[in-house]
Amino acid sequence: MNDYNLSHDQAGLIQEVLSEVGPVRNYLVQGRAGSGKTYTENALRELAARSGVTALSVAPTGLAASLVNGLTIHSAFGIQVKHTPARTGSRANRLVPWEHIDLLIVDEMSMIRADLIDAMDKTLRAVRRKPGLPFGGVQVVLFGDLFQLPPVVNRKEGDHVALARAGYKDRWMFNAKVWQESPLALRSLVQVHRQEGGRFRDTLLRMRSGKTTPEDVAWLNERVGEAPAGTVTITPYRNRAADLNIRGLSQIGGTVREYHARTWGDVEGADFPDVFERHLQLAAGARVIFTTNHREGLWQNGTLGTVTGAYDEGAEVRLDDGSVLWVERQEFEVTKGVWDEKTSSVQPVQVGSVTQVPLRLAWAMTIHKAQGQTFESAVIDFDRGAFDDGQAYVAFSRLRSEQGLYLARPVTSRDIRHSEVAYDFLRGHNSAMAQARRGWAA
Ligand SMILES: Nc1ncnc2c1ncn2[C@@H]1O[C@H](COP(=O)(O)OP(=O)(O)O)[C@@H](O)[C@H]1O
Ligand SMILES: [Mg+2]
Repeated sequence: MNDYNLSHDQAGLIQEVLSEVGPVRNYLVQGRAGSGKTYTENALRELAARSGVTALSVAPTGLAASLVNGLTIHSAFGIQVKHTPARTGSRANRLVPWEHIDLLIVDEMSMIRADLIDAMDKTLRAVRRKPGLPFGGVQVVLFGDLFQLPPVVNRKEGDHVALARAGYKDRWMFNAKVWQESPLALRSLVQVHRQEGGRFRDTLLRMRSGKTTPEDVAWLNERVGEAPAGTVTITPYRNRAADLNIRGLSQIGGTVREYHARTWGDVEGADFPDVFERHLQLAAGARVIFTTNHREGLWQNGTLGTVTGAYDEGAEVRLDDGSVLWVERQEFEVTKGVWDEKTSSVQPVQVGSVTQVPLRLAWAMTIHKAQGQTFESAVIDFDRGAFDDGQAYVAFSRLRSEQGLYLARPVTSRDIRHSEVAYDFLRGHNSAMAQARRGWAA
């Protein structure tokens, strides 16, 4: 049906969603890691355009947004990050002409806080001048996996207290108030595309649903040991990742070069795009990961490599597949969507830009940053212990198979946490789901 090679469940979902635009119905599409949610979202957006439906993709972080060719929620809606509960977006910061959007596709919905969903709803009602319609009449399709990372709540800043005071049961997106008025139709993608069948995939499935056995833990712990030099470490802790990167850089010696992001125009208001480092340090021998997709496909967000030379104008990088590339500073255009009468479509207009070498040190990264990526091999380091639900599942499910897995220390059952809240929510929907099943949803 297009350039995508959609599986039965993916194609069925897209067909159903597109047949519902107009009589608005909002969907929550749940799918395990690697079930092709991101892949399906890209197909959905392109197919929607072909049938005259204007779709826009958003995600909670810049990296996740770049995987769906979209914007961050905060910049698309003009919502500031600092408020809890989130406040309705302002016109000045908003990058999208929402009057003209029919379909909103959202990735990594598990990371979105309930109050942010409500701020999105209120913004759309106001902008589209349809105060009585949820999301101002825009059809919303949220994709994600409630057993992956939950939303970040800053306890030190009292976020959880502020949320409770505003009437939220907890942080999860399914507790947004708008769903009382406009219930979500739950669907799921069932086929896993990232891992082949076998013991690793079965172990991941049990981990996701809180059914890890002692045998699973013992089997995973056979992977404790030294990884080949340069293998990326993924860890729950930001300071652990930073330490490993600093240590990596100091161990290779040699001249460290600094690359400062150059900005132009209104980029702070739109939130500095997190695809780039503000200050990047590189040296020959540094392990790096690309944070953007190259126009002609030379690299992708998530491609790993090693710097072979760091120069003022850029760096030479040998990818793990052996090819050598010259990587210059790249301009990331911050655009505002403007409605074009002639073509009846939303056209991007540049309001600013950030220029930076699209690399980040990759001896280590947080599990948070790794969500959405696929790795051939990785070291998992729970360090002081996983501290949130879904972290273990996200970490392990980045890998295609156990052959690429290394553990910095034995994993314990305490590290493997899954969300009871998410589990209860999904269980509550099971009967409704069975009724709504249309032959493709499982
Ligand atoms: N229908 C498909 N045919 C071939 N490859 C697919 C298909 N769906 C997904 N994939 C591949 O499987 C991997 C995981 O897909 P992704 O969309 O990242 O999953 P998710 O977002 O659900 O974690 C990616 O490498 C993707 O390209
Ligand atoms: Mg994804």
